[in-house]
Amino acid sequence: MSTLDFDITLSERPASAAERAGILADPGWGRHFTDHMVTIRYAAGKGWYDARLEPYGPIPMDPASQVFHYSQELFEGLKAYRQADGTIVTFRPHANAARMNRSAQRMAMPEIPEQLFVDALELLVRTDREWVPTQEGHSLYLRPFMFATTRALGVNQPADEFLFVVIASPSGNYYARGIKPVSVWLSTDYTRAAPGGTGEAKTGGNYAASFAGQAQAVEQGCDQVVWLDAAERRWVEEVGSMNLIFVYGSGTTTRLLTPALTGTLLPGITRDSMLKLAPDLGIPVEEGRISVDEWQSGCESGEITEVFGCGTAAVISPVGHVKGADREWKIGDGGAGAVSMRLREELIGIQYGARPDPYGWVHKIV
Ligand code: PLP
Ligand code: COI
Repeated sequence: MSTLDFDITLSERPASAAERAGILADPGWGRHFTDHMVTIRYAAGKGWYDARLEPYGPIPMDPASQVFHYSQELFEGLKAYRQADGTIVTFRPHANAARMNRSAQRMAMPEIPEQLFVDALELLVRTDREWVPTQEGHSLYLRPFMFATTRALGVNQPADEFLFVVIASPSGNYYARGIKPVSVWLSTDYTRAAPGGTGEAKTGGNYAASFAGQAQAVEQGCDQVVWLDAAERRWVEEVGSMNLIFVYGSGTTTRLLTPALTGTLLPGITRDSMLKLAPDLGIPVEEGRISVDEWQSGCESGEITEVFGCGTAAVISPVGHVKGADREWKIGDGGAGAVSMRLREELIGIQYGARPDPYGWVHKIV
């Protein structure tokens, strides 16, 4: 049951079947959008109102809207998958709703009822279901976001008007060259998040602040930036916009370590899924901490056999090579490791329906 009724206006000029097929043949990532979007307004004292499904298009905004000046914004990311029998599902949408509400608390923004969040996703996916790709590994990326529309430049008065929007983008592989291992740069000039800051909130400012570090990684010939803790620049936190998982040992001695959620890491839903999936496959997982020195010596001694980043967009992205200002090393043989690939297959298997879903993660839409 939705808490609001949606006012529905269908697009008069949806993409033709041929246009859509052309886009779906090579969607890239985050470049194309479906025919519709959802918008829901919020005003203090009134709550959520004016829920709409409408044609995808520009949103008229007052230049004094708070979001343009003070970045009061947050977003989420999840995917809709087309399973072999044609069923369209999404993955753990209530977990995204809960995380959006935790981000909202940190950013002094209103929480959205979880069911309204999920209803908005379902309505958009049902309406634009023809946009859910059929190609293996492709999906419809869903991007819910919310921002302050209050027209005011004062910073000592909290915004009281917000807009929640959901858009959808057919997506191929996040990394154009597939799942080849990435090289990573240990950033010591820039950090992503500090204790007490906004690191665990999914807010646009964290990403704006990360671009210079990512650009430096590319200058250094690397694909992605590794974020270290802000205080000591010693403890490993995340890679790019993914959580990190370290694989120790092999065969029956395999175990995983992932940096604990200290408040400066984004609590990834893929990470959380790995924490539940791996032990059921007989691979113990520990949430702890690992320093750059331990990462290097672990790889050199052979104790650390694989490392991968995990997130919705890329799923699992093996790390093959690490470079810092005064050091450089390879992980395993620099290739995609067997444990990383097994975990990837298991997770994708659940999402696309090839494997059973004992966790109730898959949420049927159509
Ligand atoms: N870390 C950061 C900084 C992210 O932006 C994301 C992706 O959204 C993740 C980790 C992975 O989170 P999830 O698995 O929920 O996509
Ligand atoms: C993810 O979904 O894994 C992401 O990192 C999203 C990113 C484009 C911000």
